[in-house]
Order: sequence, then structure tokens, then C-alpha cells
Amino acid sequence: MSTIRRYHAAAWDEAIVFELGAPGRRGVVPPASWAPPSTEPSFAPGLRRESPPALPELAEYEVRRHYTHLAQQTLGMMGVSLFGTCTMKHNPTVNEQVGARHEIAEVHPRQDPSTYQGVLGIVHSFEAELCNLSGMSAFSFQPGGGADAAYLHAVITRAYHASRGELAQRTQVVTTAQAHPCNPAAAVSAGFEVITLPIEEGGYPSVAALKAVIGPKTAALMLNNPDDMGIYNPHITEFIDAVHDVGGLAFYDNANFNGVMTRLRARELGFDACMFMLHKTFGAPKGGNGPSVGAYGCSEELARFLPGPRVVKNGEAYELVEPDGSVGRVREFLGNVPQVIKAYSWTRAMGTEGLRTAADISVLANNYMEKRLMAIRGVSMSLPGKALPRLEMTRYSLEEYRVETGLTGGDVQNRMTDFGIDAFWMSHEPWIVPEPFTPEAGEMWSKEDLDEWIDVLEHVLEEGRRDPELVRTSPHNQAVAQIDGSGLNDPETWAVTWAAYRRKHAQV
Ligand SMILES: Cc1ncc(COP(=O)(O)O)c(C=O)c1O
Repeated sequence: MSTIRRYHAAAWDEAIVFELGAPGRRGVVPPASWAPPSTEPSFAPGLRRESPPALPELAEYEVRRHYTHLAQQTLGMMGVSLFGTCTMKHNPTVNEQVGARHEIAEVHPRQDPSTYQGVLGIVHSFEAELCNLSGMSAFSFQPGGGADAAYLHAVITRAYHASRGELAQRTQVVTTAQAHPCNPAAAVSAGFEVITLPIEEGGYPSVAALKAVIGPKTAALMLNNPDDMGIYNPHITEFIDAVHDVGGLAFYDNANFNGVMTRLRARELGFDACMFMLHKTFGAPKGGNGPSVGAYGCSEELARFLPGPRVVKNGEAYELVEPDGSVGRVREFLGNVPQVIKAYSWTRAMGTEGLRTAADISVLANNYMEKRLMAIRGVSMSLPGKALPRLEMTRYSLEEYRVETGLTGGDVQNRMTDFGIDAFWMSHEPWIVPEPFTPEAGEMWSKEDLDEWIDVLEHVLEEGRRDPELVRTSPHNQAVAQIDGSGLNDPETWAVTWAAYRRKHAQV
């Protein structure tokens, strides 16, 4: 039976919250206790602000109406969202509630650490959990995302070789064509030259190709495995050994950890450092360098280079210390601590067995999808005809379909949103597989959800054969039709906060 549903988003033409309301409007949220506080909170001189913040003033119903409207206009996570190479997960409410507890949300990083020992205890315990999952000796939660963690590794690589008097000689970082572009970008930002290994006949770069490019100039290897096509390179330990033999470091971009959780540990494979995405694999909310955390883990030898402060346990107390050889900060304080707490809550709820089951389900679900998608006319797979198992995701191509109809993956993606399906992820490396798309089933979605997603794709492809214009001009059922994306790469135009918008558009 078809699972295609009729769907239409609401369109409210909603003003932003700063433009709503009027002075004096109020709503009431009862405090936990109606009793007045016994003492006025004391602030250090200079901390109390002199004028009230420029916040909008709204009645309760206006606030509720505003956010309901926004929710009705938003597709994200309302439909089925299979956003590959990012392991897009539902963010459980329980973790949001834990992260919003006042003991966490109201802590100021400049408070004396003795006043938020519980928070530090959680950060410390979660570090131990990630050490357990990776085999690494220490973690920093400071990087504000995966790319930031890759950058931290590049900077630590520099510090490590400098400490051995070899920085001038170690100028090259080796990566692969299927590594996320943040790896070469981080290496270049830290001053290295990048060597990219191509994907070969076998489906991944060969050890021979690696050995041909490494030597006394090699500073580090930076890659992911499984790669961004879901393919696991089984020769990974030979890669790492070869890089170690020439004196380089090996960094594991573990962003694609979902399908291998508890099945492998970065340190046991030989890696010197790795990173996990708390905002992907560990169920915390995602957002580019916003609320995200790229947890960076490393060996005991590299731990002295980590950014400070680090949480250490001294007797019963937790303290903040600066490592001796620290490379400095990549972000403020301990990073996005509420995210760490949500990820900790998620991991504790899952337990080791839960993580293993989730990893296995994500691989099973992907393989189920793969079987169904490969039966659809116009869909093909990267590296076709190779008996290469895919783990938690598979990269597909709509190239045959484009040749047949003139429609692109972007057109198909837009039209799928007309059926309440979140836009799929195409590819971080769009130059390798033509018209790519990379859905990731994950462990969370039900079989009915996956079937619905696949049915909608099949339906849209057929629609495009009958009426290409319908698909090319989509979406038609969304709050906003096709948008002009030309300003998205222009820092003079876009703004992520209201204050920045007003500044950039000269309203202040
Ligand atoms: C394999 C891989 N590495 C690194 C990143 C970068 O992570 P972030 O978006 O958190 O900077 C991504 C993001 O999609 C990724 O898929």
C-alpha cells in the first residue's frame, strides 16, 4: 500500500519575534517556589547591567502563537529526515530537560569551580566514557563542531612536531578523496600542504598509494572510516602503521561512528587522536559551530597539547587546569557544556549494549534501504558492481535519471519536501559521484518511515518523467518556494543574530 501522504505547510508570513508585541505586554511563568528568595543574589561590582536588555515584550498567547507558527512552517524533523554523513538524530526531550536544569543553564563559566562541582563531575565522567569508547586517554569538548576538532588536530600536530624539533621538515598532511573536506581544510589552515589519495579499483585508497607519498615530510594522516560513501577500508591498520613508521600522526575523523559504535576503538586501531560528533552520533542538537561539539580525543602523549581548561579530579574535588604544552583555545571555556550534558544523558540511557544495538540497527536499516532503492529505475550506487558492503550509509547517484529527464538531484530533493520529507543530504564531495545523494537510515526511524521515504522518492521520479516542470519548479507545498541562495555565501548579507542583522543593515 502506498505511504504517500497529502501534505501542505502553513504559510504565515510571520514577523520575527523582535518585531512583535508592544511595551508592557507580559506573560507569567510561575517560579518553582512562590516564596521570595531569602537573600538578594550578590553580584561583583560592574556585573549588573545599567539598562535593561532590548528584549521584545509580548503577551503569553503571542509568544505561543509565534512559535507555533514557526513550527508549522518548519519541515526539519517534522517529516522523515534521513540526512546522511551527519547521522541526524532526534534530540530526546528528556536530554533537553536535563540540559535546561537551572543547575546547568544558569552556571556562569567564570564562577568559582567549587560552586558547580556537579557539572564538572559530569564533564569528567563523560570524558571517561568517550575514552572508553575510543581507547584514547583524554578528551577536549572545546571544539564547536567536527571541523573545529579537525582543526584542533592539525594545530596539535604542529605542536607535537615542533616539540620534537621537526616542524620545519614535517610539512605534509595526507588525506583521502572520500574524507570530509574539513580534514584537508584544517590542515591547510594550520599551514600544511595536503596530499589527497584517490579512491582506487578496490573502492578505497591502497596502502601502496599511501606508501608512495609518505616520508620524512609527513606530519599526519587525517581520514574517516567508514568513509563518506559508507565504505570501510579494511587495511586501516596498515595505513596507520606506515604513517607511524615515517614519524607522522594518525587522526581518525570518527564522524561516521554510528555504524561501528562499540565495534571498534580508535586507539586499538592505532590512531593517535580521534573526534566524535556529540551533535550527531550522541543525540545532541546539531548546528554548524553553534550548539555543536566536536569532542577531540587523543593519546596520553598528545594530551599535554590539549586546549585548557581541562577538568581533573583531585581527591573528591574537580579542578580546572591548563595543560603544560597547550596549543591554546579553539573556543571559550569548556565549550558547549549543555551539549556535553545532553550527550552524557543520551549515552547513559543507551548503555554499552544499547549503543551496540543502535550501531547494528543503523547498518541493517541502511542495507534494507539499499536493497529497495537499487530496485528503483534511475537510481544507481557509487562504485557499482563492487561487492563492497556499506555500513551506516550508501552514496547513490541520480545521474541516469538526469540524463533521462534533465532533472537534477536538487530538483528531486525539493519535490520530496512537498510530501513532508526533509531534504536529503547530497554529498560533501559532489565532484566524485555525479548527482549524488546520501540518505542515512540510522537506528531511530521505523521501517514504515523508511518505506515512506523510499515511496516518495520513487513517486517523485515518476512524476518527473511525466511532468518535469512540476518537479523543476518545486517545492509547491512548502511555506516558502524556491529561495534565492545567492546571499548565503556573502557575509555582508547574512546574519545569524538580530543584533548582527541590525548592524549589517545599518539599523543601529
Ligand atoms: C565525516 C565528517 N567529518 C567532519 C564533518 C564536519 O562536522 P561539523 O559539521 O560538525 O563541522 C562532517 C559533517 O558533516 C562529516 O560528515
